[in-house]
Amino acid sequence: MFSSRVPSLVPNRWSQMLSAFPPRVDLTVSNPTLVGLPYPPDLLAPLADPRGMAYHPASAGLSSAREAVAQLYRAQGLPVSPEQILLTASTSESYSLLAKLLCEPGEGFLVPQPSYPLFEHLLRAESCQTFFYPLPEETGFRLDAARISLREGVKAVVVVQPNNPTGTVVPPGEREALVALCRQRGWALVADEVFWEFPLSESPRQSFAGNPHCLTFVLGGLSKLVGLPQLKVGWMVVSGPEELAGEAFSRLEFLADTYLSVATPTQEALPEILSRGLAVRQGIGERVKANLQLLKQELAAFPFLQLLEPEGGWSAVLRFPRVVSEEDLVCELLEKSGVALYPGFFFDFPHEGFLVVSLLVPPEHLAFGLTALGRTLEGKLASCAEPGS
Ligand SMILES: Cc1ncc(COP(=O)(O)O)c(C=O)c1O
Repeated sequence: MFSSRVPSLVPNRWSQMLSAFPPRVDLTVSNPTLVGLPYPPDLLAPLADPRGMAYHPASAGLSSAREAVAQLYRAQGLPVSPEQILLTASTSESYSLLAKLLCEPGEGFLVPQPSYPLFEHLLRAESCQTFFYPLPEETGFRLDAARISLREGVKAVVVVQPNNPTGTVVPPGEREALVALCRQRGWALVADEVFWEFPLSESPRQSFAGNPHCLTFVLGGLSKLVGLPQLKVGWMVVSGPEELAGEAFSRLEFLADTYLSVATPTQEALPEILSRGLAVRQGIGERVKANLQLLKQELAAFPFLQLLEPEGGWSAVLRFPRVVSEEDLVCELLEKSGVALYPGFFFDFPHEGFLVVSLLVPPEHLAFGLTALGRTLEGKLASCAEPGS
């Protein structure tokens, strides 16, 4: 009856437990609207602009909205014009359009591992394959272009910077190697930079927006940039060798025209929402930075928990001694302490021993959850150390 593009879902043990034991402290939250951040009360007032009453379909998006997005990049010194911007309903939709644009059924994208777990589902829904390349543990989970193996059927390489959940960015030397690889293989480069505006370190980094050297799609959106996932606005910045980028853009416009999925009132309001949303972006940036500091302080009491320093983003990764499996640990924390944490295997880390903590959460939740985690592990380490155990 059903296509193989949609799996029949069997919830794992931890997901099943979430309904039996709703967490008191949820350290998996990635929804910025539910963590007590201050949003200006009139932030969405521009949606009531009467211009939204008239429907003027525009496949790539209204020019005023595209100009406002291009301006975000130009403000960072990046060479991006409104003609290179295509609006979508979300970053997820951008991925789906790119799979339609680039792949025949059975072809696919190379995606980093560990990273955002939705790639496989998004690609599979387009009858496409997911190929993986490692972000090696030895490099602190940073891209090493030499480790990207050549596979039959690859049409694009996805980089996520800062990566979710490791918070790593593409090291400067690897950037050139990656672009050269894409050119040589005829692959497109898809750079997911949804967390770009949330740096957590001073390490050098460079956006791919406007990259002229190979066909490049940089993805961004309101859900992270100004903490408004409910507005359903994302975008792609298309660049590369002129003819190729132009051809890609007009084909994307054709695809977008078959859906016209971005609501007119949202597009009309976009310039104003981007400007008002600056306050939210700052609020989120301050929250994640302060939580990273708090995390470091709390970890001082539990030296067996090791933080992998993030360079940006909304999450942090902890390495813990392998005295218990990730699944047993997160289930025990949920059941006994009411704390929800993501196990590393959700993000395809190369082995056991990782947890992912959201830095978006209220600070008191973070402190409570880390103490519960530290004490639980302390107990396990002590029982391992007992004679005869
Ligand atoms: C790396 C990454 N890309 C894309 C998305 C999805 O963004 P959107 O809400 O715009 O679809 C997420 C959501 O968490 C993400 O972590």
